[in-house]
Amino acid sequence: MRELHEQNRRSWNHATVAHNSHKGDQAAFLRGGGSTLFPEELELLGDLAGRRLVHLQCNAGQDSLSLAARGATVTGVDISDQAIAFAARLSADAGIPATFVRADVYDWLAAAPPATADLVFSSYGALCWLSDLRTWARGIAGVLAPGGRLVLVEFHPLLDLVEARDGAIVLSPAPASGGAHRPWDSGVRDYVADSGAGLLHGATYQPGVVDFANPEACHEFLWTVADVVDAIASAGLVIERVREWPYANGCTFFPGMVDLGDRRWGMPPGAPVIPLMLGLAARR
Ligand SMILES: C[S@@+](CC[C@H](N)C(=O)[O-])C[C@H]1O[C@@H](n2cnc3c(N)ncnc32)[C@H](O)[C@@H]1O
Repeated sequence: MRELHEQNRRSWNHATVAHNSHKGDQAAFLRGGGSTLFPEELELLGDLAGRRLVHLQCNAGQDSLSLAARGATVTGVDISDQAIAFAARLSADAGIPATFVRADVYDWLAAAPPATADLVFSSYGALCWLSDLRTWARGIAGVLAPGGRLVLVEFHPLLDLVEARDGAIVLSPAPASGGAHRPWDSGVRDYVADSGAGLLHGATYQPGVVDFANPEACHEFLWTVADVVDAIASAGLVIERVREWPYANGCTFFPGMVDLGDRRWGMPPGAPVIPLMLGLAARR
């Protein structure tokens, strides 16, 4: 799988530049007390003051720095060179200290000092890049201190089972469980441009990179709720909370999704109402 991860790294490097070109002055936003976090993750994370928090797949660090601003000591890990370079610059420019490490999550977890994290956090579009959930969960269990918690807030795996076709939302013919491999020749999309202001936090949408075409393909892996829960439980973590929400934070998946305010999007009128986000907290 390493070569597929490296291909994803190249694809994310291009996409991250395009994404950040739309986001305006993120440092000023954070310096002014802005936060990119949603209530759903804050509720599951609980008190952050003084917590040693590892943010896996942190991308360009906006969420990591919002967590650090709430008092956590944050280490962000991501495979993308561009994302980590941007995150380190943002940390300096915003005046919010955090540590950012460029690494494949599997390499980082294998080398991390055991039992040193109070919280491991991962969110919004992370699971689909993981080629092996059991190794991931075991690595997280190893890095968590006794009593420490994993908090996951994700777009719901059900989204991999449906697709928009001819104006309707229908079941997808593709298999979507057990880490099924889904390659995309078109690479990581500029979903920030596709979502417009819906994905931005208090900033005005910048045109930035226009008509982005990613020259690097990417590879996703599709997991069900059972795959996720089973991997975490099998790693010996005690699952304390499981939540589902019938809306998506900051991301539209289908044409006609309804703006519910506060950057939440609901299913289009007449479409089946399915959970669009999954949240989970598990304790070592
Ligand atoms: C949708 S983004 C996650 C965004 C994140 N929730 C945030 O706070 O902005 C997915 C991230 O996973 C990273 N990624 C993909 N495969 C990875 C791997 N094997 N190891 C580490 N990071 C990886 C990508 O570089 C990308 O930044």
